[in-house]
Amino acid sequence: MASNIEINQLSHTYKGGHQVLKDINLSFDSGVYGLLGPNGAGKSTLMKILCTLITPTEGQVSICGNNVTADPVSVRRQLGYLPQEFGAWRNYRIEEVLNILAQLSGMHDKKIRLEAITKALGEVGLREIADRKVKKLSGGMLRRLGIAQALIHEPKVIIVDEPTVGLDPEERIRFRNVLSDLGLDRTVLLSTHIVADLGGACKEIALLDAGKVVFQGPPRELVQAALGRVFQSSITEAELDQFEEKYVLVSTHVASNKIIVRGIANKNEIPKNAEQVTEPTLEESYLAFMTVDLQPKINCIKERICN
Ligand SMILES: Nc1ncnc2c1ncn2[C@@H]1O[C@H](COP(=O)(O)OP(=O)(O)OP(=O)(O)O)[C@@H](O)[C@H]1O
Ligand SMILES: [Mg+2]
Repeated sequence: MASNIEINQLSHTYKGGHQVLKDINLSFDSGVYGLLGPNGAGKSTLMKILCTLITPTEGQVSICGNNVTADPVSVRRQLGYLPQEFGAWRNYRIEEVLNILAQLSGMHDKKIRLEAITKALGEVGLREIADRKVKKLSGGMLRRLGIAQALIHEPKVIIVDEPTVGLDPEERIRFRNVLSDLGLDRTVLLSTHIVADLGGACKEIALLDAGKVVFQGPPRELVQAALGRVFQSSITEAELDQFEEKYVLVSTHVASNKIIVRGIANKNEIPKNAEQVTEPTLEESYLAFMTVDLQPKINCIKERICN
């Protein structure tokens, strides 16, 4: 049986000739999946294509068996999309927003609609504050309201673009938990460039770089691929410049008169006297993956990912 999201030989060129997606082949079944990549990699473009907001220039994309180009109406029925802003709803209460949006999406039976709203609010943990006005919600509550509206019509696929930007750590964890619960019987695809936001909740990660998929697999495979390339070393201040030129440094901190650095090296080229890190973090593994040919890319990667 086909997966909930099937992407075959997808390429996209914007008007003006800028090709931003190149021969993408991906499939996502139920579970939470992360779409990861630096700024400009093409994540939002891919998500907009999945949500039928952009028509791709080449290739096939289907959601639950429906082609996004040939049958966008059926696709939208299977799909929940988290919009970034709820600005226009400031003076409405949570339950009012959901009631109106549910009616707009065709749920005309009041009893069914109210049941669906109560269920969705329960799933995102907003039931107790259903009468609170949107303008009084925190950033994280707003994102959860966004998820609730995406859930009302019980879609099989939920697409969330950069959901955790601007959230504090506590809300971030809460949001991640909501998504992983939803992923139990649906496909949840979320994009981010905050690597730590994916972590354990994610079944698989797809890495996009300059419009191409450079990796798809479980997070532990990404970590596996980084083994032997992540090091920790204790150096002097005088050595720091040299290290910064030669390696991607992930962290530096001063301990008495030494500097402890963690960094990424090319395969078999970790510095003398450095210790190999046997359990790299997901972020370090991502950096290692994105710096296969370290030297030419080093500065640009630092700018794009470490900031
Ligand atoms: N409407 C458009 N017309 C032309 N080019 C566009 C358009 N939208 C995006 N692009 C370009 O397509 C490329 C990919 O953009 P996209 O927004 O998909 O990247 P992204 O991975 O979501 O980046 P970010 O992490 O910054 O959100 C970028 O070079 C961007 O400038
Ligand atoms: Mg984007």
